[in-house]
Amino acid sequence: MRYSHFVHDSTLDAMWREHFSGKPTLFASAPGRVNLIGEHTDYNEGFVFPAAIDRRTNALLRTTAGSFRVLSNQAGPSAQFFPGETVKGRNWARYAAACAKRLQDHTGETPPALEGVLNSHIPSGSGLSSSAALDLCFLTAWNELCRYGFTPKQLALMAAEADNLYVGVQSGIMDQMASALGEEGKALFIDTRSQEYWAHSLPPGIDIAILDTRKPRALAASAYNDRVRECKQAVDAIVLHDPAVKSLRDVTLDQVESAEMNEVVRKRARHVVSENARAIAFRDALESSNLPALGRLARESHESLRNDYEVSCRELDAMARAAWNAPGCVAARMTGAGFGGCCVALVVSDLYLEFEASVRASYGMYGYREPALFRTSAAQGGLAIILGNHSQELSSE
Ligand code: GLA
Repeated sequence: MRYSHFVHDSTLDAMWREHFSGKPTLFASAPGRVNLIGEHTDYNEGFVFPAAIDRRTNALLRTTAGSFRVLSNQAGPSAQFFPGETVKGRNWARYAAACAKRLQDHTGETPPALEGVLNSHIPSGSGLSSSAALDLCFLTAWNELCRYGFTPKQLALMAAEADNLYVGVQSGIMDQMASALGEEGKALFIDTRSQEYWAHSLPPGIDIAILDTRKPRALAASAYNDRVRECKQAVDAIVLHDPAVKSLRDVTLDQVESAEMNEVVRKRARHVVSENARAIAFRDALESSNLPALGRLARESHESLRNDYEVSCRELDAMARAAWNAPGCVAARMTGAGFGGCCVALVVSDLYLEFEASVRASYGMYGYREPALFRTSAAQGGLAIILGNHSQELSSE
């Protein structure tokens, strides 16, 4: 397959021509994701329901005998490293280095260094998992170049391990699974305990809208780690009464309300337990095209994240309210880790323009930073294509 049959990224081609002579040997690409429901449940062995989106990170690459050296259109040159080493500091290449190291752990061999160019269409820092897309872009590239034969699911789990072990982020597996396994027109219902997943078609005539507040996600990492710790504390309190409990996945709301625990910890547990039930109900409502139920569940999810989990913010609340009141809105809520970032909405396609205009007008009244609103669709997960010898592989422009 010619990569230009899959995606036409003329910026990427031009970057290659500007910085390299000769030809790339491989095109790799992985998408960002948006989560429809099931928030802060993946590190509690619960249910999540993300979709890969049509905003991708694309790369043209080839192996090199030197150090890893890739130029990103958004984030500049990578830190240079030899696979097997980790990259310290904030350079984006720390994700690629972590993936190379994890591949080495799994295969016993060091993957080759890569050079090339990268163009990301995923806004960074918006909670759309641009970092999972980076992971999957490089992992699929190495998997194809070295013929390791890992499945997309194995690559997703490896990416999550790489982030946890070598980048030092305590995330679950949702983002990497979505970026690796996404399917066109479908969202993935994932049981993060068994790591099984099921692709569900989105109802016809419904679009996904991303409503990015563009509020920088300050303190998100430390607050995220606090939530992970609080969830563990809730499990420790409940396990005293029920030794079979392994995670909040196993817990009922009655147990949350009756066990002795600090009130903040109780609120966190209440969110996770109720959110798991909402994720299942949302999947069922999607299957039966019960649009009112989708709307109610998304709203309850947002309110639970705001009141019990306390990961929303004024901007996300204003955006969700603006969406709930807009024409064509089927369901809307904050999405991702929170503290800024985006809301997601399901919107009747025929009313999309009215929806967007109404959200822009109502949100505009608060005087926050100008938001970025865009329509997206559920897209295919990560892929890598070995490029043929013909010079037409790069688009002529
Ligand atoms: C971040 C993490 C995910 C998940 C969400 C919250 O995106 O990377 O694993 O925990 O937050 O649902």
